[in-house]
Amino acid sequence: MRTAKRIEKLPPYLFAEIDRKVAEAKARGADIISFGVGDPDLPSPPHVIEAMKKAAADPGTHRYPSYTGMPEFRESIASWYGKRFGVDLDPNDEVQPLVGSKEGIFHLPVAFIDPGDVALIPDPGYPVYETGTILAGGEAVLLPLTEDNGYLPDLASIPSDVLDRARVLWLNYPSNPTAACVDRSFFAEAVEFCKRNDLLLAHDAAYTEITFDGYTAPSVLEVEGAMDCAIEFHSLSKTYNMTGWRIGWVAGAPVAIEAMKRLKTNVDSGIFDAVQHAGIAAIEGPQDYHLECVDRFRHRRDLLCDGLKSMGIVVEPPKGSIYVWVPVPDGHTSESFTTFLLDTCDIVVAPGTGYGPSGEGYVRFSLTLEDERLGEGVERLRKAVS
Ligand SMILES: Cc1ncc(COP(=O)(O)O)c(C=O)c1O
Repeated sequence: MRTAKRIEKLPPYLFAEIDRKVAEAKARGADIISFGVGDPDLPSPPHVIEAMKKAAADPGTHRYPSYTGMPEFRESIASWYGKRFGVDLDPNDEVQPLVGSKEGIFHLPVAFIDPGDVALIPDPGYPVYETGTILAGGEAVLLPLTEDNGYLPDLASIPSDVLDRARVLWLNYPSNPTAACVDRSFFAEAVEFCKRNDLLLAHDAAYTEITFDGYTAPSVLEVEGAMDCAIEFHSLSKTYNMTGWRIGWVAGAPVAIEAMKRLKTNVDSGIFDAVQHAGIAAIEGPQDYHLECVDRFRHRRDLLCDGLKSMGIVVEPPKGSIYVWVPVPDGHTSESFTTFLLDTCDIVVAPGTGYGPSGEGYVRFSLTLEDERLGEGVERLRKAVS
């Protein structure tokens, strides 16, 4: 049996060796504390579960869903955009529900990248921007995000021959993995850049609703002119602890939404209607539980950042996301420090290089574990690095 060449083009899976070691450690009974996964540990909101139960009991939800999503769900998304960002969206032409935002992020290049075209991709960044581009036959050109450039891509430094072939610019703020945040003026520059260079701006907004210390994350669609060149991916996964439910959406420039709809009609058959009812309950229902969860993430962020500071690892507490981006001690690489933590104190973190070469020198801590475990993790870390 022969696999297709495109599979060979995929970058190596950098977590494979760590996964193997974690499995080994677990097999010998180690008490692993994992800061590795970006999957909220807290349950989905109770009223969302109730809405799902009720909808699932209705046989009307048991048949194939609509490709374009339930009109009520699209209306609910459009109305949320109005309330949250002051953005006026047409629920028919400017919103498309997704089977989780990863599905849409992966498929976008199929609709926008021809063989030889370039996608401009944040490095470090969520790996699917790159894998989607490669599998569509495109070329991923990485834009280094470093502490020195405030984790913002230097758009002016992109060579003109690359720009000539570029079709898509990916952005993600609050960022996975760096947790960097931006204000609207950065999006205004990016929109202007994309219009000038005839690029689609694809903003991944998975973490805009998890922010701290009075910071409110903007939507790229707030910027004047964005509806001509930009789309934004949203997800209920992190906002409402709904990673398992597989529900999100893409919204923005109608030409791009039309292309995504056309593509998706041929790829999947929509989201289970009961899950869409749950999605409506999540967006339109009470937000107290969500706000409580955000506060718990903030508290965990403080526990971790204060703990790191007390051992001489100074990290500016991030204003958004569920991650902390931590420099590795001198003499270590991302991977060697990851292995060191696993071998010496049964702690799992994600090596920065798993998100791109510019992630070298960093590891990512997720805030997806209870205070007590997090505190124990910090103490183990203190002993290991001392
Ligand atoms: C930056 C970013 N975008 C998108 C996703 C995908 O989220 P989902 O497919 O659950 O909506 C993730 C998940 O970790 C992520 O970190």
